[in-house]
Amino acid sequence: MFSKKTIRDVDVTGKRVLVRVDFNVPLTKEREVADSTRIRAVLPTINYLVEREAKIILISHLGRPDGKVDDAVRMDPVARCLSNLLGKQVQKVDKTVTDEVKAAVSRLKTGDVLLLENVRFNPGEKKNDPEFAKQLALLADIYVNDAFGTAHRNHASTVGITNYLPAYGGFLLEKEINELSKLFKNPDKPFVAVLGGNKVSDKIKVIEKFLDIVDVILTGGGMCFTFLKAKGANIGGSICQNDETEHSLKMLKKAKENGVGLLLPVDVVVAKTIAEDAEYKIVPVENIPDKLMGLDIGPKTIRTYEDILSKAKTIFWNGPMGVFEIEQFSQGTKAIATAIANSQATTIVGGGDSDAALRKYGLENRVSFISTGGGASLKFLEGTPLPGAEALLDK
Ligand code: 3PG
Repeated sequence: MFSKKTIRDVDVTGKRVLVRVDFNVPLTKEREVADSTRIRAVLPTINYLVEREAKIILISHLGRPDGKVDDAVRMDPVARCLSNLLGKQVQKVDKTVTDEVKAAVSRLKTGDVLLLENVRFNPGEKKNDPEFAKQLALLADIYVNDAFGTAHRNHASTVGITNYLPAYGGFLLEKEINELSKLFKNPDKPFVAVLGGNKVSDKIKVIEKFLDIVDVILTGGGMCFTFLKAKGANIGGSICQNDETEHSLKMLKKAKENGVGLLLPVDVVVAKTIAEDAEYKIVPVENIPDKLMGLDIGPKTIRTYEDILSKAKTIFWNGPMGVFEIEQFSQGTKAIATAIANSQATTIVGGGDSDAALRKYGLENRVSFISTGGGASLKFLEGTPLPGAEALLDK
């Protein structure tokens, strides 16, 4: 559970509070916010600070501009979106630590909200440069981290800054860690994990950890072909991480030893190309023709997975079962999302793609909890400490 001090533990009234948020949101072609989930997720913290008459300074990254100014990922669309959601004007400055920013901060009245420019325009951010962290700290009296999605990054605005300001957790960070921790605290059984997405390497440590606590792991997406190849199947042109086959075999062995079902698809939807007009067919997994790639789980696999999910009492899902953005390859992901939504189990979903899939099918309100962090939730679940949370003051 979350064992750090939160904003409830400090008097914020009249203080300048710098809040690290994760406003790394998708933008439309017209450069407006396409999905405001991550912005809405920190409203409880912002509203709490507004109500207690703090002077609020928000800072976030957007995309990966790599230490250079990039007009495509300025924070202006986020400021507009946040103003609408809060029902009050959010001021925006075009820099992060200059005199212009200091002047804007000194003009803040209690309850005002100021959004700084994309923190990753500064090369010091990703390097966790102490000088940049110090400059950021000079803007405020108190630091709050509410950026769960970025808590696995050791950056100046997530970790370095805590050396210079008293550092507290926000409500989102606290909630995320408490919800994800429930998976390890006597979860109701059967506990089923559904893991998809492209890369086995992203999931291997989570699989290893889950093999000690779950009853069944259902696999899909590109990553299952690395397992299938490791088992000697002909996977045709399907995506495969050849350097992970040995790891995959180890996981299959550990699953057997622990009595955990590590299930691979028995049939898949295959096609020559990943395109809207691609022709497709369904084949058994051991028999994928050479020039075709597996792009979704097949109907037999779906039925087996649905059956297992219908009996589960706890479900964790991360990663789509196929290329669900394209109709022909979306049935597996849609079926799994629906089975999870219909389940009576505690259902926890992590990762941007699974979240997007739930939203695509209008099922986002039918699960117990959706994490706002993809990489961060996986790191947390594999047992790796999150530097952004570790750096906060202990309770
Ligand atoms: C995310 O979208 O997972 C977070 O915002 C972290 O972004 P990053 O992977 O670019 O650090």
